Amino acid sequence: MISATVILLEPDAAVAREIEAAFEASQYAITRAASAGEAMDLVRARRFDVVVIGVIGAESSAVAAAVRNGPGGDSSFLFFVKDPADLGDLGAIVVEGPSDFLLRPVRSAELNARIDVISRHLEARERRSSVPEGGWGADISALQQSEERLRTLVTESPIGILLYDADGRPIEINPASMRMFGVVGIEQIPNLFESLRLFPEASVTEQARDRLRRGGTVRHAFPVDFEWGVKELHFPPTSRRGVIYVDLCITPLGVRKGGKPTGFLAQVQDITDRRLAEARLFVADRMASLGTMAAGVAHEINNPLSYVMANVSHVSTELGRRSADAPEVYRDVIEALDEALVGVDRIRRIVADLKTFSRPDDDGAVTLDVRRVLDSCVNMAQNEIRHRAKLVKEYVVTPPVRGSDARLAQVFLNLLVNAAQAIPMGHANENEIRLKTSVRQAGRVDIEVSDTGPGIPPELLPKIFDPFFTTKPVGEGTGLGLSICHAIVKALGGEILVDTAVGKGTTIKVSIPSVEVRAGDIEKRRPSREIPAPKRRILVIDDEPLFGTAIRRLLQGEHDVTLVMSGREAVRLIGEVDYDMVLCDLMMPEVSGIDVYNQVRREKPGFERKIAFMTGGAFTPLARQFLDGLPNPRLDKPFTREEIRALIMSLLSETDD
Ligand SMILES: Nc1ncnc2c1ncn2[C@@H]1O[C@H](COP(=O)(O)OP(=O)(O)OP(=O)(O)O)[C@@H](O)[C@H]1O
Ligand SMILES: [Mg+2]
Repeated sequence: MISATVILLEPDAAVAREIEAAFEASQYAITRAASAGEAMDLVRARRFDVVVIGVIGAESSAVAAAVRNGPGGDSSFLFFVKDPADLGDLGAIVVEGPSDFLLRPVRSAELNARIDVISRHLEARERRSSVPEGGWGADISALQQSEERLRTLVTESPIGILLYDADGRPIEINPASMRMFGVVGIEQIPNLFESLRLFPEASVTEQARDRLRRGGTVRHAFPVDFEWGVKELHFPPTSRRGVIYVDLCITPLGVRKGGKPTGFLAQVQDITDRRLAEARLFVADRMASLGTMAAGVAHEINNPLSYVMANVSHVSTELGRRSADAPEVYRDVIEALDEALVGVDRIRRIVADLKTFSRPDDDGAVTLDVRRVLDSCVNMAQNEIRHRAKLVKEYVVTPPVRGSDARLAQVFLNLLVNAAQAIPMGHANENEIRLKTSVRQAGRVDIEVSDTGPGIPPELLPKIFDPFFTTKPVGEGTGLGLSICHAIVKALGGEILVDTAVGKGTTIKVSIPSVEVRAGDIEKRRPSREIPAPKRRILVIDDEPLFGTAIRRLLQGEHDVTLVMSGREAVRLIGEVDYDMVLCDLMMPEVSGIDVYNQVRREKPGFERKIAFMTGGAFTPLARQFLDGLPNPRLDKPFTREEIRALIMSLLSETDD
């Protein structure tokens, strides 16, 4: 219990003692006044928490008035003690404004209950107006400290915090928002409701305004294009360029049921980096699943395609040979077969293109010819290009580059699709997309993708490599294409340049470092085709029986071909027979091509150089590493009769000496 002061004016001595004792038992400091005059002097001099008035009539009123006008004022508790007879004039009592009263004779239970009420009343008042420890001065500095802490929270927060009044006028902004928006003062911040026009979709802007006015919270993640805001929405200039992705949350303040907000709190976060990482992951993910599927499909198609090709080509050659006496009889059939071969060759190229995209997450660089990657991309983009422009290839021989073909393909595919999409549909004859390779500077290969589209306006030019910058409708372009191209080319140590003229077209030039060609490399890969091969003993290892017989048929008459379907059997035969060369499939169940190679190298050293590998299109990383580390020639399935002949020639000429 608090220690409170009481003044007691009670003419009945017995009652006075009883009251005094009860208050003292509850720790009150009690002062007795002998008369109304003394009581009035005392309450004018100082404040009492409780004033007990046992006198009646004019005296009672005079003391009550003195309390109200004295230092105690309305805060003193007026406690009247009355006889039941006095209650006849209730009106007079009410005018005196008692806080409570008690009737004589005083019963102690009743008195104690009253004192309890008084104590609770005083405690509540105490809590409302408590003076802090150390006095009011300490309290003000505590207030200052707490304000300081709050201010630190707001100024140091990496989240942009903006406070607006009820009409959306900015009234407070923190440094993070100034940095984010490239402004130096609050006067550069537009009205909240106007700012919402930065949302890329007008309908979302409207919805958001409506929600805020009704006291609802708005949360939206969207790209902010600063220059667009300044130019199109006439927002105050800022030093910020380009596009950032923000996460915005606006909370209306002081909203009571049905009432209007008294202000708004906006919190903004720059989530550009996070968005970018997510988008890259998404693209990589999509490419990876596409690639896995492509590799699987390529592998499945390649095996049957190999023997279709070999057999058709065999039949065609055979027929040609046998019909030497009466060529016109077979001409039709031979033509039909040759056309079938053209079709088969097209399938082969499509499958080869699929392979280009099948290793997106494989950063492992290989040495490659950019023209081959370009051709794959053209095939892939053909559907976009066909109805808009003629495609012209202007290739020169270029040295190889080192990189992942899947990643390079991503670059050129993006550029080709951009070029195609820049040209409207329907005037394919008047438009052109040109693909050019050149070597302008030693050690670099240049690839240009040009179009006869509308060109890029100078004010947009600095932004086209920014992530999320797109002029295409929502849902059509992500605005990531060029930023991804830029990242990939940069990683290869290359650069991208843009040459554009409004109304004329655009040329994007990619320049990447090339690598030295090892002597003999090219010959091994592109063997001369014309020299007829002398008849040799060749061992063919392949677990696909139809493929094996097709190859045998193809080489029949030119060489002695032995066919085995297992690696184990092959190793045994190599130990017994002196073959001139071995054509070995790479991926076989049980004993693989790699196992055959390793065993042969152990058991018949030197002979392993006579092995050429045939691959079905899909590689395990291990197989790829293995092949890349070997000088042995390899042949991708399916191959033409000419290709296998050339390979045999080159291998024989190399191992003959
Ligand atoms: N060949 C071009 N001709 C005209 N404008 C182009 C050309 N290439 C790019 N642009 C402009 O650059 C912007 C950004 O290109 P980018 O490839 O990064 O994204 P996008 O093509 O819009 O979307 P995405 O590639 O994700 O589908 C395009 O929206 C377009 O305005
Ligand atoms: Mg694009």
